[in-house]
Amino acid sequence: MSNSIINLADNLSIYRILNGMWQVSGGHGQINPELAVLDMLEYHKMGFTTWDLADIYGPSESYIGEFRKQLFVKDKEELNKSQALTKFVPNPGPMTKSIVEYYIDQSLRKMSIDSIDLIQFHWWDYTNPSYLDAIEHLSKLCDEGKIKHLGLTNFDTARVEIITEKGFKIISNQVQYSILDQRPEQLMIPFCQKHDMQLLTYGTLLGGFLSEKYLGLENPHRADLTTLSLQKYYNMIDAWGGWNLFQELLHTLSHIAKKHNSSIANVSTKFILDKPSVAGVIIGARLGVSEHREDNVKVFDLRLDSEDLLMINAITLKSNNLFDIIGDCGAEYR
Ligand SMILES: NC(=O)c1ccc[n+]([C@@H]2O[C@H](COP(=O)([O-])OP(=O)(O)OC[C@H]3O[C@@H](n4cnc5c(N)ncnc54)[C@H](OP(=O)(O)O)[C@@H]3O)[C@@H](O)[C@H]2O)c1
Repeated sequence: MSNSIINLADNLSIYRILNGMWQVSGGHGQINPELAVLDMLEYHKMGFTTWDLADIYGPSESYIGEFRKQLFVKDKEELNKSQALTKFVPNPGPMTKSIVEYYIDQSLRKMSIDSIDLIQFHWWDYTNPSYLDAIEHLSKLCDEGKIKHLGLTNFDTARVEIITEKGFKIISNQVQYSILDQRPEQLMIPFCQKHDMQLLTYGTLLGGFLSEKYLGLENPHRADLTTLSLQKYYNMIDAWGGWNLFQELLHTLSHIAKKHNSSIANVSTKFILDKPSVAGVIIGARLGVSEHREDNVKVFDLRLDSEDLLMINAITLKSNNLFDIIGDCGAEYR
């Protein structure tokens, strides 16, 4: 198997750079549905076959449905090469089988599929224990074939432990993980290693901040942050150590990138792809607006050496510890 593909489960192989679809849900520029689906076909053609989406990411599930229809017309064999990992993000409340099944059926219908490759469950409020009911029903829907695999997103280690102790098989957790935010290393990764669970990561490029585009720039004004993603991760940069330290990091990453004839984005992605338990890095795709496929595909040729890692460490050692400030994975949502 090539180093760009990994088994998330026995019958679920994914491309290790996933295409993130939060960007189609608003706040990331005007998305044209026809152009977006054409762009999805281009991603697929270049080998970027795995999509990360959610019931709450605007039209993302319907885009998968339309994309699959067009792929079928072009070459129906290609459908088997595509994976769509969606999320179930309900409002906290009673989680009966019929409520859970209603939402899963809705996702199946929108995506025009019979079975969801991976459902990633999010829960906003741990004080409401109904999340365990939801997982029980999702697990039954796995047995019934509507879902192939069960995953989580933004769950902290303590709750993942409760869930797995109850005997539910969870194959993945999706969490924020980047050179800036290495919180998963404190508790989550040791847990994953012990329990055979893998991580899918987001925020790895900080919405695009980790790129040549921001190298040497003055501290941006809020008005310069033109996507919700940039706004979200600007707050992370602030909490981590601020713009000047971030510039120091960008200069170091630029130096490493030049040494390998690579890019800051590639170095930042590879840094996380190389971490234990990380199955894949999700990179946000502003479909039909911008794309970085030619660059991102090169990440699999990049080998970071120990000198590179020492240089990156020398900067992150000067930063604040986000685990102390925010807490374990997902605490920023609660
Ligand atoms: N579970 C959760 O709570 C959660 C939360 C956030 C995100 N996510 C998932 O993760 C995905 C990623 O979203 P994110 O917000 O974290 O964004 P991100 O992946 O950190 O950043 C995406 C942006 O990075 C820029 N970029 C990508 N490749 C590049 C390259 N090679 N060189 C230079 N710039 C590059 C692009 O900016 P331009 O378009 O401006 O060029 C792109 O829009 C989402 O779509 C979603 O699927 C999940």
